[in-house]
Amino acid sequence: MRQCLLLASGFSAASASTLASICSTSNIQNSLPSSSDIDGLIFRDVTAQAVYNSSVEAGNNYPAATGRNFCNVTAAYKHAGKDDAINVWYYFPDPAQYQGRFLATGGGGFAINSGASGLEGGLVYGAVAGCTDGGMGWGGQLNDVVLKANGSLDYDIINNFGYLSIHEMTEIGKTMSKNIYNSSKLYSYYQGCSEGGRDGWSQVQRYSDQFDGAVVGAPAFRQSHQQPNHDWPQIYEQSISYAPNSCALEKIVNETVNACDALDGKVDGVVARSDLCKLNWHPENVIGKSYACAASTAFNPITGGAGATTPAANGTVNANDVAVFLAVQNGPYDSKNRHLYVGFQPGTDTSSNAAGTYSNKTGSYEIAAITDIGAEWITELLQEVNSTSLSLDGVTVDTLRGWMIEGMQKYAGTLNTVWTDLQEFSEAGGKIIHYHGEADNSIPTLSSVIYQEQVRRVMYPDLSYEDSLEKLHEFYRLYIVPGAAHCSPSAENGPFPQTVLGSMIEWVENEVVPVQLNATVLQGPEEGNAEKICTFPYRPMWSGNTTEHKCVMPEKDALDTWFPVLDSIPLNSYGNA
Ligand SMILES: *[C@@H]1O[C@H](CO)[C@@H](O)[C@H](O)[C@H]1NC(C)=O
Ligand SMILES: *[C@@H]1O[C@H](CO)[C@@H](O)[C@H](O)[C@H]1NC(C)=O
Ligand SMILES: *[C@@H]1O[C@H](CO)[C@@H](O)[C@H](O)[C@H]1NC(C)=O
Ligand SMILES: *[C@@H]1O[C@H](CO)[C@@H](O)[C@H](O)[C@H]1NC(C)=O
Ligand SMILES: *[C@@H]1O[C@H](CO)[C@@H](O)[C@H](O)[C@H]1NC(C)=O
Ligand SMILES: *[C@@H]1O[C@H](CO)[C@@H](O)[C@H](O)[C@H]1NC(C)=O
Ligand SMILES: *[C@@H]1O[C@H](CO)[C@@H](O)[C@H](O)[C@H]1NC(C)=O
Ligand SMILES: *[C@@H]1O[C@H](CO)[C@@H](O)[C@H](O)[C@H]1NC(C)=O
Ligand SMILES: *[C@@H]1O[C@H](CO)[C@@H](O)[C@H](O)[C@H]1NC(C)=O
Ligand SMILES: *[C@@H]1O[C@H](CO)[C@@H](O)[C@H](O)[C@H]1NC(C)=O
Repeated sequence: MRQCLLLASGFSAASASTLASICSTSNIQNSLPSSSDIDGLIFRDVTAQAVYNSSVEAGNNYPAATGRNFCNVTAAYKHAGKDDAINVWYYFPDPAQYQGRFLATGGGGFAINSGASGLEGGLVYGAVAGCTDGGMGWGGQLNDVVLKANGSLDYDIINNFGYLSIHEMTEIGKTMSKNIYNSSKLYSYYQGCSEGGRDGWSQVQRYSDQFDGAVVGAPAFRQSHQQPNHDWPQIYEQSISYAPNSCALEKIVNETVNACDALDGKVDGVVARSDLCKLNWHPENVIGKSYACAASTAFNPITGGAGATTPAANGTVNANDVAVFLAVQNGPYDSKNRHLYVGFQPGTDTSSNAAGTYSNKTGSYEIAAITDIGAEWITELLQEVNSTSLSLDGVTVDTLRGWMIEGMQKYAGTLNTVWTDLQEFSEAGGKIIHYHGEADNSIPTLSSVIYQEQVRRVMYPDLSYEDSLEKLHEFYRLYIVPGAAHCSPSAENGPFPQTVLGSMIEWVENEVVPVQLNATVLQGPEEGNAEKICTFPYRPMWSGNTTEHKCVMPEKDALDTWFPVLDSIPLNSYGNA
């Protein structure tokens, strides 16, 4: 029936044709999946407009492009038998610019999409690109809609956000792409970072043949652990009744960078061997050193204007400042001194997590209020009360442990995924590029490392370490990006994999294995320089400040720093995602 409709609407004439001809609302409508493609979706409100000569500004994850023409498409759908509404949004390139690719994109924080900035990466690479609102409305966030009332969660929204909406958006987009360009040849990709990384991971684990290649940055997976872990610095500070000022923490980080910069063989302000830094540097050395910072005013992302003011500060670093720094770096240990979860790599900014708030009433620094995701995960997702602020009254590290266990149980299979290895994904020929900033201050670098390690251990139990890595790297490569923070470059002169989707395309379509991942310095005096990123666990080593590094296997003690023993929760903390 649909075939007849398509022919009747002149679909075949559009196949080798212009943007204007593919971008009529009726042609777009006719390209939507039928019930034989995807069962149970009922579409409405299709819009389509042609956009000409559009320029894409370079982002962290794609280079700039000009002269792009595309069809800007939105649609809504509901599930048969449900009173829901999910919105999807796609850019379909001009047939002359289309290269037979589909790109699914995801979100950040508690948002499931990155809006136009996600879709633009597709225009650069000749791919149809899509995103979804997961039924939360454009601009909607999980925390805004997940409670129907106190004590009542919206499980449809949790499933949509957890995995279902990205899957449906992908299947809809792939079907439309085949229909619109009248071609069965279609490479399918995913790209996203942070929540966007978790979105991609949720697909790789469940739908083994959905993507030929998934580019997953700093994934916010293992939500059960990741979200409560945001609260650890304040819980620790409460336990020692002390909150450092941001200047003292900045001083410790600066001294760490100074001490560890050269351990990778190149003095450039970037710690590219945080493993060697862990072994060789003792932050206690900073105790007694003086610091001074000018007054500063934070940026308020909501108003776009001035945020909280931090007065000028000076003093000497004390033992409590260093204790907080180390607590953040090492991650939480429970009251029986068992390791609960991972912390951050040395060289990572610590003040954003752990600095106290200056009180101009008392003239001192107080433990910062817990807000945003770190609070909302506990209040809304665990306690099911409509509150965006979390009280720390009576909260200890064992409370934190309880929250992690509760999250694992409550959200297994939805926001967390039940552990699966990647056997089916690899057998289907899928490829994964997984990257994570070495100085990520929001999602610990180690959270990615221990996940991949679990995959390796489970998939290749009988092979030697080197042999198992070789097998793993045939389809799944992890790259630790020196100096990069959360989904963005941070340290001056640090590289970032701006062309990572291009590298994935090369791997999938031309079998060019990204033994080292292309990256570019996006800030600082070395801006514009190319720098390659080693496949983990190989780490870079420069000799004599030259631009070329070797990728070396760390010595055993350095390698061991990447695989902490998490013995507090006797469940699969490495694998649970
Ligand atoms: C697709 O294109 C082929 C030739 O390239 C043509 O034979 C076929 O009829 C077209 N199909 C549709 C549905 O337009
Ligand atoms: C396309 O846009 C560029 C600027 O982005 C402009 O210089 C150029 O004239 C435009 N071309 C056409 C055909 O409109
Ligand atoms: C694409 O369409 C949406 C919905 O109609 C609209 O809000 C957006 O501005 C359009 N984008 C472009 C680049 O035209
Ligand atoms: C939660 O509180 C916010 C603001 O206090 C309110 O706008 C929202 O409707 C409430 N949600 C529910 C489900 O009660
Ligand atoms: C830390 O280093 C940066 C960059 O060199 C500098 O601007 C800042 O003042 C230093 N902070 C402290 C507390 O020394
Ligand atoms: C340190 O702070 C005090 C006020 O708290 C100020 O008088 C003094 O000038 C500051 N010293 C430096 C080196 O900034
Ligand atoms: C304390 O902070 C408030 C709010 O920012 C400000 O209005 C007030 O002037 C400050 N008081 C002092 C003594 O700095
Ligand atoms: C829901 O819980 C919040 C937080 O405890 C409370 O402030 C609010 O009054 C409750 N709402 C209702 C309708 O009970
Ligand atoms: C990676 O960089 C090399 C130069 O070192 C270049 O030849 C190649 O095209 C780049 N690949 C991608 C996907 O950007
Ligand atoms: C590398 O450069 C730094 C600073 O420019 C210098 O201190 C150091 O001696 C150099 N190391 C070598 C091995 O050349």
